[in-house]
Amino acid sequence: MNATQPKYKINELDIRPHGQSRELPVLPRSESTSEFMPLEEKEVEYFFASDASAVIEHTNRVIYLEDDDVAAVRDGTLSIHRLKKSLDDPHAREITTLKMEIQQIMKGNYDYFMQKEIFEQPDSVVNTMRGRVRFDGNAIVLGGIKDYIPEIKRCRRLMLIGCGTSYHSAVATRQLLEELTELPVMVELASDFLDRNTPIFRDDVCFFISQSGETADTLMALRYCKQRGALIVGITNTVGSSICRESHCGVHINAGPEIGVASTKAYTSQFISLVMFALVMSEDRLSLQQRRLEILQALSKLADQIRDVLQLDSKVQELAKDLYQHKSLLIMGRGYNFATCLEGALKVKELTYMHSEGIMAGELKHGPLALVDDSMPVLMIVLRDPVYVKCMNALQQVTSRKGCPIIICEEGDEETKAFSSRHLEIPRTVDCLQGILTVIPMQLLSYHIAVLRGCDVDCPRNLAKSVTVE
Ligand code: M6R
Repeated sequence: MNATQPKYKINELDIRPHGQSRELPVLPRSESTSEFMPLEEKEVEYFFASDASAVIEHTNRVIYLEDDDVAAVRDGTLSIHRLKKSLDDPHAREITTLKMEIQQIMKGNYDYFMQKEIFEQPDSVVNTMRGRVRFDGNAIVLGGIKDYIPEIKRCRRLMLIGCGTSYHSAVATRQLLEELTELPVMVELASDFLDRNTPIFRDDVCFFISQSGETADTLMALRYCKQRGALIVGITNTVGSSICRESHCGVHINAGPEIGVASTKAYTSQFISLVMFALVMSEDRLSLQQRRLEILQALSKLADQIRDVLQLDSKVQELAKDLYQHKSLLIMGRGYNFATCLEGALKVKELTYMHSEGIMAGELKHGPLALVDDSMPVLMIVLRDPVYVKCMNALQQVTSRKGCPIIICEEGDEETKAFSSRHLEIPRTVDCLQGILTVIPMQLLSYHIAVLRGCDVDCPRNLAKSVTVE
């Protein structure tokens, strides 16, 4: 990577600059060794980094290396070598001009990147939809996959594969995908999927969801499915990443750089990308038009509703003060909000080192209820959706064991609020998008608990932003 912008003499290599905005670029490959030398007598600096955002303050021109590339700078010349020469793996490396702005990777007035990224969500969700959703004509175009839609419609099943938060975005949207595509939808943790040697067929469509696009387990699962002839769809936030390059097609979620190790805005953007995919798949289904319209209208209001939820920040901080000295937090819900329970618990564990568990409320009586007493912190999500009555039943089971849950409910829902003195009210939206509004209080809660416990919010112990080892 170079600081100035010299012209390059490129030896043995077809090298082409391209913009960062292109969806899932495919890099052509031609030779096994290449050199990049400045043609003019200008000083050049090269920076090596594992992520482009780390060097954006010095340069916006980057070269992405691939697996087994070895890059070296000697006497002012950058050369890239391959460990093994292979005919089917010749290479060319493009110089990519990043469109990233330096402000995007600065904390600004925020204390932590995670905090900044939580508060960016009213904008990041709009960026995910920008140029894709036309609210006036109720139309959606996903440029990166539109040519593959007929093939996807003919598939045997959809498989959504990812790790951690990315996996939770699949859990969050599975029900809607089943409803709007009328296809079987399997949701898989990449590591477990590989452990099981899961059968995969040529007419499967496999989605690989990854913020970084570099997660080793997800990438291995992608290669496993590709070898078996499935169509590979990448859902990533990082243009030029391995998952981008190795997918047949995909959707870039456009959430902007996410620096904090805890994933926040990438989750809500992955969620929306999958919702948009479901809407595209149901475009020509007459019986689903009313439902689509309802979802599109809700999407148009989402940014403002996220702003409203972010206003709860100081209230969430007060709740964090009640919770931060406890050892555990149980988070319960079901239906469209089960994913929020899993994601909320992951955020709490990752950032605060407290134990936390996301519990499917329907499973309470099969074991977890034994944990509930007057000292166990519990948070429950109870919204006015098709599982409301069942959630109320779970709430009563908890309160009758002297549990005093914090409740996330809909604005003005006095009946539900009456079950606890501690509650967070969120605006009403369509059932399948509730998970976007309910996850934000969980992000804020884990953030505040981490600050109160003196944890390193942006770099939790033992974790890395990109998990490139299996
Ligand atoms: O980059 P990816 O989305 O593939 O990363 C997957 C997980 O490692 C990641 O989501 C992890 O769970 C987050 N740090 C949780 O906040």
